[in-house]
Amino acid sequence: ALEDNSSPQNVKKSVAKSDPNGMVNILGKLEELFGLAIKQAFPEVKDFQVVVVSTTPNFGDYQFNGAMSLSKVLKTLGKSLNPRDVATAVQKSVPANEVIETLDLAGPGFINIKLKASFVQEQLSLLVMRGVRPPCGVEKKRVMVDFSSPNIAKEMHVGHLRSTIIGDSICRLLEFLGHEVLRINHVGDWGTQFGMLLAHLEDRFPNFAEETPPIGDLQSFYKESKIRFDSDADFKKRAYACVVKLQSHDPVYIKGWQAICDVSRREFQKIYDRLDIKIKERGESFYQDLMKKTVQLLEEAGVLIEDEGRKVMFAPNIAVPLTVVKSDGGYTYDTSDMAAIRQRVHDESADWVIYVVDMGQSGHFETIFACAEVAGWLDRKKTRVEHVGFGVVLGEDRKKFKSRSSETVRLVDLLDEGLRRAKEKLIEKERDKVLTPEELESAQQAVAYGCIKYSDLAHNRIADYVFSFDKMLEDKGNTAVYLLYAYTRIRSIARTANVTDEQIKKAVADGIPLSHDKEMKLAKLLLRFPETIVRLTFDLCLHPLCEFLYEVSTAFTEFYDVCYCVEKDRTTGQIVKINMDRMALCEATANVMAQCFSLLGLKPVQKM
Ligand code: ARG
Repeated sequence: ALEDNSSPQNVKKSVAKSDPNGMVNILGKLEELFGLAIKQAFPEVKDFQVVVVSTTPNFGDYQFNGAMSLSKVLKTLGKSLNPRDVATAVQKSVPANEVIETLDLAGPGFINIKLKASFVQEQLSLLVMRGVRPPCGVEKKRVMVDFSSPNIAKEMHVGHLRSTIIGDSICRLLEFLGHEVLRINHVGDWGTQFGMLLAHLEDRFPNFAEETPPIGDLQSFYKESKIRFDSDADFKKRAYACVVKLQSHDPVYIKGWQAICDVSRREFQKIYDRLDIKIKERGESFYQDLMKKTVQLLEEAGVLIEDEGRKVMFAPNIAVPLTVVKSDGGYTYDTSDMAAIRQRVHDESADWVIYVVDMGQSGHFETIFACAEVAGWLDRKKTRVEHVGFGVVLGEDRKKFKSRSSETVRLVDLLDEGLRRAKEKLIEKERDKVLTPEELESAQQAVAYGCIKYSDLAHNRIADYVFSFDKMLEDKGNTAVYLLYAYTRIRSIARTANVTDEQIKKAVADGIPLSHDKEMKLAKLLLRFPETIVRLTFDLCLHPLCEFLYEVSTAFTEFYDVCYCVEKDRTTGQIVKINMDRMALCEATANVMAQCFSLLGLKPVQKM
């Protein structure tokens, strides 16, 4: 039977539940168990649980470290218990389960949690047999991600590159988790800058309405028109007239506007293709017809204030208002974002709206969200909206990122330089001597685009970020180059042993013993993949995934150094023994790494 949800929308939304055959989120499972234990031991305490991954194996695999704060909470409720007693009570109340081997009290009130070996063995063999799967228990949402969003006629700059990389990775993550994701490119394709562009178009290509104007380099076209706009009063007047014609949808000027947008669009698309980014364009112009209605609704709600001919809207406790209507009657960036949030929450029934835009705009989004609540269009208890901000890109001198000619860096040039440097690096390592030209080219692209994406994602996005090809192309430490190499090495093990995936699966169908402690350690780490990616959705910071990936490759090295997978005869070099259990562990590691790469938008190669 359907749940008691009267509106058809709710019915539709409640359909998608999580995949019961997904991977187990172990940390999530432990939190559930400890949540139940706390409820049992202290029914008066609401929503309390603190389980973390242990920092050292001496403290078990996971640890409950909430006894101190729980004892404080209890005190406020009139119950005086020291943390040790609290921990004892929690420990006794953990329900019977198939996950935990031992719960050891330690220190002033920690509980060290050790996983059952049989549980780890079973989960690992499921991982080998079924491959990497999304975690179970994720409630499906309809998510709109607004990212990249460059401006027409202006060059896409490194800030937009960050938005593109971070936004794409967030989409990949949410898609993998099973959410319904809409990738939106909120292109700046409307506004007063089109006045001067159109006036300049009139002069340069008077025939633009009949024939597609061969604008060519839009960058210089923009500069030329800007110079005229700033120096020629008549031109300026004509530019304003053009804006009016455009905004009243004069078909001739719409044609000119389209032609200009097309040139930009093609340039943007080249970047997206190179970086393998999928995104749907829905720029500011998309909301043109909605803006009138938006303003009307705000007017009716009585929230607009006249201010020197403008109409503005204040949000509670925020000093700077939105400008919803300009004194000339035109709409603004603010108006388009008000129209957009209403469209997304109301018309699209999004459960979650994400804006990946530089931190410089955090005030703007805070105000938009607050005003949407004032207008009654948004209930933040029902709809999650958030601005995913990021710091600025700095040059190696920690100053503004510039190219040699001291202008802003063009993205195409940056990607080209990445390719050139990647090739240099591969040749320096003499990879051209072992790889075919095709393999070399794939490796070059994997390294170039991979390192640009990875070094961005591996940093905490909130911080400013120093762009350095030298740093990102290092082959030691937590870099794309190191990880891509590590991955190819693992993949080559199966090639050397000459065993297939099928043979490995068959051999371990009855379980994997994991008798060596390095095997066990690696297995437990691989099984932390689900909890790691679920946690990323809490604050949409992606660097913990990079840390996890690095930890996996380090744990793999530790394992591989001491655990022989393939034994060869010293004199003949012939393979004498293959340990299939360990081969399975290699494959599982490579598969988890490949999935992490895919979430980060990296394309690993089999040979490098
Ligand atoms: N085009 C804007 C810029 O370059 C970013 C737009 C972000 N998205 C939005 N809904 N405001 O600064």
